[in-house]
Amino acid sequence: MELGFIFDLDGVITDTAEYHYQAWKQLADEENIPFTRQDNEALRGVPRRRSLELLLKGRVFPEDKLVEMETRKNNYYQALLENITPGDLLPGVLPFLTEAKVTGIRLGLGSASKNAMTVIRRLGIEPLFDAIGDGYCVVNHKPAPDLFIWVAGRLGLWPTRCFVFEDAEAGVDAAIAGGFHAIGIGPDERVGRAHYILPEGLKTAHIHDFRIT
Ligand code: BG6
Ligand code: MG
Repeated sequence: MELGFIFDLDGVITDTAEYHYQAWKQLADEENIPFTRQDNEALRGVPRRRSLELLLKGRVFPEDKLVEMETRKNNYYQALLENITPGDLLPGVLPFLTEAKVTGIRLGLGSASKNAMTVIRRLGIEPLFDAIGDGYCVVNHKPAPDLFIWVAGRLGLWPTRCFVFEDAEAGVDAAIAGGFHAIGIGPDERVGRAHYILPEGLKTAHIHDFRIT
């Protein structure tokens, strides 16, 4: 029976959360808004506009200023992405993806980021994916299941035939809402609702652990 693995990008395949933090922090400093690494945790898996709203903590700005701030942050973020190389794949990711691919498992990406294509190209893993869903593909973001359902459709699989690998609470909730098998990457406090948890990430995962009968 055919099987699919759908991966979130940031925090599952590579750790761009640090670059997002640095870019938001630069914007926050310029705007004299306090912003800590702890604050950044709440932005994990959250799309750009909602992230900005969380950073602003209730401060009100006109729409054109919000757009300017999003663009400024994205410019800082894209400059940092220039540093990414295949060496930035998280431990265990490449063997896991490669083994799954040769076994015939269909591979998908489901990322809220509009920069996802740039990141996976810089990581050198674009050819491994049969379907790539990014921040441009659907209107409703995680925790809505739309993006994962979009990717599963491109893989030609029902959600019940796919595992979703996620490090964000909103992503785990999206996978569950869509009827997928949710694999949480990281601490229980964040991904505790997942069906199965990999606290250490993909480096401790074996493809044969993921079967659907
Ligand atoms: C998610 C990240 O993958 O993408 C979030 O976890 C980020 O932190 C979101 O805000 C949107 O990213 P981008 O690149 O479109 O601003
Ligand atoms: Mg993530």
